[in-house]
Parts: sequence; structure tokens; C-alpha cells
Amino acid sequence: MDLFAKIKNNASALGQYAENGGEGYFIAPKLEGPIANRMMFQGKECVCWSVNNYLGLANLPEIRKIDGDAAADWGLAYPMGSRLMTGNTSEHEALEVELAEFVNKESTALVNFGYQGVVSAIDCLVGRRDVIVYDAESHACIMDGVRLHIGKRFAFEHNNIESLEKRLQRATKITEETGGGILVISEGVFGMRGDQGKLREIVALKEQYEFRLFVDDAHGFGVLGKTGAGACEEQGVMDQIDVYFATFAKSMASVGAFFAGDTAIMRYMKYNMRSQIYAKSLAMPIVVGARKRLAMIKNDTTQKDKLWTIVNALQAGLKERGFDLGDTNSCVTPVYMKGSVPEAQALVYDMRENYNVFCSIVVPPVIPQGMILLRLIPTASHTLEDVQITLEAFSAVAVRLKAGDYKVEAANF
Ligand SMILES: Cc1ncc(COP(=O)(O)O)c(C=O)c1O
Repeated sequence: MDLFAKIKNNASALGQYAENGGEGYFIAPKLEGPIANRMMFQGKECVCWSVNNYLGLANLPEIRKIDGDAAADWGLAYPMGSRLMTGNTSEHEALEVELAEFVNKESTALVNFGYQGVVSAIDCLVGRRDVIVYDAESHACIMDGVRLHIGKRFAFEHNNIESLEKRLQRATKITEETGGGILVISEGVFGMRGDQGKLREIVALKEQYEFRLFVDDAHGFGVLGKTGAGACEEQGVMDQIDVYFATFAKSMASVGAFFAGDTAIMRYMKYNMRSQIYAKSLAMPIVVGARKRLAMIKNDTTQKDKLWTIVNALQAGLKERGFDLGDTNSCVTPVYMKGSVPEAQALVYDMRENYNVFCSIVVPPVIPQGMILLRLIPTASHTLEDVQITLEAFSAVAVRLKAGDYKVEAANF
């Protein structure tokens, strides 16, 4: 069979939503104008709840200025080459030191993109004798890192400590025979449901089982914890996390990411993560910009306080109106409703066109069939007026969903 003929006949799980005019609307929509609480969508201003700009840094004048000045000073090319060849600078090293201080770890290792970084971190930490035990609802970068592993791996039920313990018992038996070790992987905040990984309970298992713990805190860094150092700080277990990961792509409003842990492990990772050895180092404006962002997060909680005012108002308002937010205990605000994917599309269309509220739909297979999940990301740039507009929009569309209106309109999608 012709390979491309097979591809052309298979739209794929996400590709199917691009068909029938969905592209540019339900999938790959273009949000225009500065990254803010209100953005332009298809020529109209909407309250936008789909951008992970938690602390609202993306468009702060001082951040825009430092990014612009750094680009003018350094250009986008510098430094050329991978970090280990010709891509290292004092700025990269200074950022690593500052990040380590902030998350209270001995050392950090910068990576150019979080996704690739996590894939190759997992790849370099384990060998054929080792066993990985990971949360079944982990982010795709963890899944892909696990897929590269040539030894045994076991998924435990999402955030289920009993299930984790069973997998640890199996893993322990195996490693006793192979002489390998165990890597447990969880997340600080699960980005779809918004629930924090049960890190305290996981860490407590270290008393009975021998394993190392890797935590992806993409959605916790900068927004959770007393100082903003993330979910592990919030749960008081940072010192028990063996490999901590956070990206700059969310609260830091940039690109790039880092790992943190003991110096010996960070050194090993720097010299063994293939996505870093064989790819270009972070560009200087990104590094200079990250230092400025980190200094702001460290020294001034204004943005974090603003964020939590919005999170609390939005989540309390939705709950008061009877909406089901599952078990989020972070900024991520999922709203669960019942209906088909076409009904969800009709509902979101109504919300965008008639209420000027833009949020994203999460579709099966990420959630079960028959369920609608609208995911809202509150940010420091939102206002209480944005929250009010959104609460009213949700109440209105919920009435129409119950009345079956979207079943009829769904025929258009
Ligand atoms: C949980 C989680 N891990 C890792 C990543 C990847 O980070 P980056 O965007 O830096 O590649 C993301 C971002 O989508 C994420 O949500």
C-alpha cells in the first residue's frame, strides 16, 4: 500500500476536527493582538481564557522592553551551536545559578524546549535494568520519554496511591533481579484536570520502597507555593524531589525550560540529554529575558496576587452557579458538562459569537466520550469584569445545553 494513501484516508484523532471548516476556528484558531485578557478572534474582541500566561508577564512593558533590548543587543542567533560545543555563555550559567537558588536545589540544567528536554531526561536517567513507574495521565512529553525506555515500565492509575504502591511492589521485584533502580514520575499540576500530583503521599512511600522521584511542574512553577517555587514548595516536599522540571512557556511567558536537583545528577543530565547535546542552545534574548522574569517573580508578588484574585473569583463564581470543576486545586479551571463533541462545538461557537468569551474545548480521547470539558486558564491580566462576563456566559450556555438547543445546532458542525 502507498504510505501516503493510508495517511490521506486517516484524518487522525485531532485532524478530524480540522475538517468541515473547523480549522482556524476549533483547531488552530488565530488569536490576534497583544497577549492579554482580551484578544481579537475573527475580527471581534473576546475575553480570552486559553493562554498559559498565568502571571500576565507576556505583555508587561518592562518585559517587552528587556526582550526587545536583548534582541537588539544580541540578535536571535547568539550563541550558535549546542551548549556543549559553542553554545555556552556566562548568562546561561548565571540563569542556572539563579534558578537553583529559587527552587532551593543544588544545581539546575537549562534546556531549549521543555518537551524535548523531558523526553531525553527520562531517556538518559534510565537503562534496560531500570523500571519506570508513571502516572497514567502524564503529559505527552513524559509518555514519549517512557516510550523510549527499553526496560520495564508500569503506569499507575491517575493520582491513585494504592495503584502506585502495587506497581512499586512489582517494580521492586524486577529490580531485585536485574540490579536496576526505579524512577517514579508524576506532575506538580496536571494540566487538563488542574489537580496537583499527590506528592506528599508519593514521597512518603520512599520509607518503604527505594525509588527516585521526577516531577514535571510546568503548571505549578511561578504560581504555587509561598515564594512561587511551585507545587513541591506548596506541598512542602521540594527536598524530596530528585529531579524537578519546569518550563518557561507558562508563568514565565517565554520558551525554554530547566531541571533542578543534586549537582552530580544535573551534570550527568547536561552531558547525556541527547536533545541538548545535538541541538542549539537557548538564544541569548531568551536567557536575558528569563533572568528578568525570574527576578520579578522573586522580588514582587503583585502579579501572583492578582492571578489568585482572579482564580478565586472565577472558581468560586462557577461553583456557586452549580458548575462541576472536578478536583482542581490549582489555577487550571476545568468545567465539566455532559454532551457530544458536536454539542460542545455548538456551545463554544455560541459562547464565542454571542458572548465574546473564548475558551478551549478538550475532546476525547483526552476525556471520556459523552463528556464536555471546557478549560479556562485565569491570568493576572484578567479583571473581575472579565470574570463576571464569563460567569454570565456560562450560565446562559448551560441553560441552552440542558434544553437540547445545541443538539439541533450541532448538525452544522
Ligand atoms: C505538563 C507539561 N510538561 C511539559 C510541557 C512542555 O513544555 P514546553 O512548552 O517548554 O516544550 C508542557 C507544555 O505544554 C506541559 O504542560
